[in-house]
Amino acid sequence: MKKILIAVQNPDDAQEWADHFKQQDPSWQVQIWTPDTPFTGAHYAVVWQPPARLFAQEKDLKAVFNLGAGVDALGIGSVIPAEMPVYRIEDGGMAVQMAEYALHGVLLATRRFTTYAQQQPKKEWRTHAPVLRSEWPIGVMGYGQIGAQVANTLDQLGYPVAAWARRERSDQTGIEMYAGDAQFQAFLQRTRILINVLPLTDETRGIINKNTLDALQQDGFVINMARGAHVIDEDLLAALDSGQLRGALLDVFHTEPLPVEHPFWTEPGVHITPHIAGVSLRHECTTQILEKLAVLLQGQEPTGRVNPQQQY
Ligand code: GLV
Repeated sequence: MKKILIAVQNPDDAQEWADHFKQQDPSWQVQIWTPDTPFTGAHYAVVWQPPARLFAQEKDLKAVFNLGAGVDALGIGSVIPAEMPVYRIEDGGMAVQMAEYALHGVLLATRRFTTYAQQQPKKEWRTHAPVLRSEWPIGVMGYGQIGAQVANTLDQLGYPVAAWARRERSDQTGIEMYAGDAQFQAFLQRTRILINVLPLTDETRGIINKNTLDALQQDGFVINMARGAHVIDEDLLAALDSGQLRGALLDVFHTEPLPVEHPFWTEPGVHITPHIAGVSLRHECTTQILEKLAVLLQGQEPTGRVNPQQQY
């Protein structure tokens, strides 16, 4: 049966995704799924943070397409059986947005644009010392498609950039690479601006903690655009209070929306955005999922399949 279920929590969002699929390929039946939907028998589901009930109920699903890069919310191996093929969006217009977001964070840390903006209402013409890039080594944690684009964009601007991945990677672009636990300390010690684009897994949860932050160069800056659960919030606040960090740009949080009472809202040096660093663009993602479906229907294996052991 050529039927796609759309399981996305926000109803307006779900409708927009459904419209895109229908417009781009009318040969597919597209149905929005909610927890009240009776059994549909669909073979394919397109999801973003779906409730476990979807998988408990839709036992005929043959594959799941996640509308984003991070698959941590799916519960692969618990909510979904480990054998269920799960495909994630590969780029989908996200990598370039994330590179821009990282650049914004780097500029917040290095250039004095915020200071100049504060000077303007006072009609104050005052220059500040220029940036010496060599004083701002950047370290990118995570080196998949997104991490590579982030690292290479910043590298082109002349910052010293290194990247760290959980596992050894061969990189053709000249970015200085670190890998695994053994090289983590050395990576941190050469880093002043730490950028996180890691997937959230059992290995990476809480990775931005006191030990990590203490190992960075002093007066550092953290940019987190991966998942809130990568960070131990108290440790980040302590590092800001002690001056170990001069600031942080945070897009993701343990609880989203970030609760109004959370100290991040008012912590000096913290810049907050509401999980918008890399938004899945509808046209790109719909096209990509339809292409993957076409490959599946030909009995072949599309790219972007999540490895349940690695959790990404
Ligand atoms: C967004 O957070 C994503 O995982 O794509």
